Amino acid sequence: MTTGEPERVDRSSRTSSDYGPLCSLVYQLDKPVGTSSGDVEFYRDLLAGTSGEILEPAVGTGRILIPLLQAGFRVRGFDPSPAMLTICRDNCAAHGLDPVLFEADLVTFQEPAAFAAVVIPTGSFALVTGRERAAQALRNLRESLRPGGRLIVDVEPLEQSTSPGPLRHWWLGDEMLTLSSLPPAQPEEGVVSSWLRYERWRDGRLVETELQNFSLQRYDLDGFAALLREAGFTAVTVHADYQAGLSPTPDSHVWTFVATA
Ligand SMILES: C[S@@+](CC[C@H](N)C(=O)[O-])C[C@H]1O[C@@H](n2cnc3c(N)ncnc32)[C@H](O)[C@@H]1O
Repeated sequence: MTTGEPERVDRSSRTSSDYGPLCSLVYQLDKPVGTSSGDVEFYRDLLAGTSGEILEPAVGTGRILIPLLQAGFRVRGFDPSPAMLTICRDNCAAHGLDPVLFEADLVTFQEPAAFAAVVIPTGSFALVTGRERAAQALRNLRESLRPGGRLIVDVEPLEQSTSPGPLRHWWLGDEMLTLSSLPPAQPEEGVVSSWLRYERWRDGRLVETELQNFSLQRYDLDGFAALLREAGFTAVTVHADYQAGLSPTPDSHVWTFVATA
């Protein structure tokens, strides 16, 4: 702006690849703390016996962090989304918890030899798109683990294209939040993308919108194991569908990789 007038920002609509305020609120309504697809119990069991601090990057609303803290683990969390961190802090406070939570990104965060374990459930690692950025994130995580520390990370087998699903909605008091998705004009090689449109309705009127460019990096089993080894991890094992020892297949819903630094 060069006119000397204050810049006008339309705060009722937003376009970003981030988890913005509406998107974060919908995540909280859709998967409140206490929601588990088997991931909470599986991660808790895999971490049994871990002594030392645990890191959860992409902590989101604290859906995993809070039950881990309640189980007695020492866990720190980070996330690049201020909106997610605000909800996470509120959720922690509601459970009488006050963990260290901070703003950071998987591609740049590093704290040498600080952690006994790093956990990334829910397929969140795929939000780091681009093979080199993903490789950098894994090298950072290996550096951040103590020797012998473990990275436990989910990868969801993904289809190349996403088709738009039905409109979803949630009620918050007398307001309705909606989520719809649109496929991108030009799919990128190796990345599954869609546009997610979040809306807030009051008295039948649209009062807020947010558009998220939602992109996920695709991996196959061998490709992700190779990426882990290239980043310096050893002893890579994989479990399918949150069942210890269940062998992964391309038809699994989720693969959980356990890799040693
Ligand atoms: C699906 S939520 C998962 C939240 C939580 N871990 C859970 O299981 O409920 C994904 C989170 O990843 C975060 N995220 C996206 N890109 C990231 C990045 N580059 N580094 C760290 N976190 C990221 C988002 O802000 C969001 O909070």
